Amino acid sequence: MGYFLGNLGPKVPTRVPHAGVEQITTDRFVHPRYVPGDRKTEKPVVQQGQCGRRRVVCDRPRRGASLPSTEASRPSPSRLAGVSISLRRRFRALPDFPVDLPGFDPATAPADPVELFLEWLDHALSAGVPQPHAFSLATSTASGQISSRMLILKNIHEGAWHFASARGSRKGRELAANPQAAMNFYWEPLGRQVRVVGAVSLLSAEASALDWAERPGADGQANPDWQLYALHPTEVEFWQASPDRHHIRHRYAL
Ligand SMILES: Cc1cc2nc3c(=O)[nH]c(=O)nc-3n(C[C@H](O)[C@H](O)[C@H](O)COP(=O)(O)O)c2cc1C
Repeated sequence: MGYFLGNLGPKVPTRVPHAGVEQITTDRFVHPRYVPGDRKTEKPVVQQGQCGRRRVVCDRPRRGASLPSTEASRPSPSRLAGVSISLRRRFRALPDFPVDLPGFDPATAPADPVELFLEWLDHALSAGVPQPHAFSLATSTASGQISSRMLILKNIHEGAWHFASARGSRKGRELAANPQAAMNFYWEPLGRQVRVVGAVSLLSAEASALDWAERPGADGQANPDWQLYALHPTEVEFWQASPDRHHIRHRYAL
């Protein structure tokens, strides 16, 4: 294990109980929490004549609401800009993290990130998070063109995180050219994210065949293109949203 103290901008380091571990609380993502119906946090959006025949004040953007008249009277490029303003308001009005979030004290976190991941995974399972073993996998071409997609975590064995796909797929070709990848798990009801970054290696043909054979709906046909991969993390970062918006990062460098 080595130290990895990347520059994450404004930060308040707390205790560092394990070598190679950095704990950060950050308020870099602070923005006013939107509380529907609360005039202190809600920004009224005035839309004249947009909510029926009467001139009305809508306090919330409506799906498909047309543009305020000032925007609508402009030529089409500005109208496009207006559409994006309206979309921005709709996004702004969407719910934030749940108010009732689990606590996380990095000082009591285990030294092994896999142990912590399994704790968080169990918590996600008992909280009813659907497919908590689903993650986004980012890969890139040799020249640095990035792509990502969702996959299913197959196993974690001896510190390596397993996933499977076709070698001939885009990700398979990218991994052949550049065997590095980043995983990202997100458990929305818990306000938790885990990211895992590292080098990727191929597991054996036997292990890949077994994974293919065990897939739901397997019909007994072999698939020699199916490949089980192992990601060997150099970095695992746990992120916990906090109701006071001082979100916590706990990062292991391996
Ligand atoms: C929740 C979820 C889980 C998925 N799991 C896998 C998987 O384990 N392996 C796989 O090859 N594709 C999986 N897919 C499909 C991939 O997201 C992707 O569409 C496919 O692998 C082709 O990706 P590529 O063209 O970037 O290589 C999954 C999709 C979703 C939405």
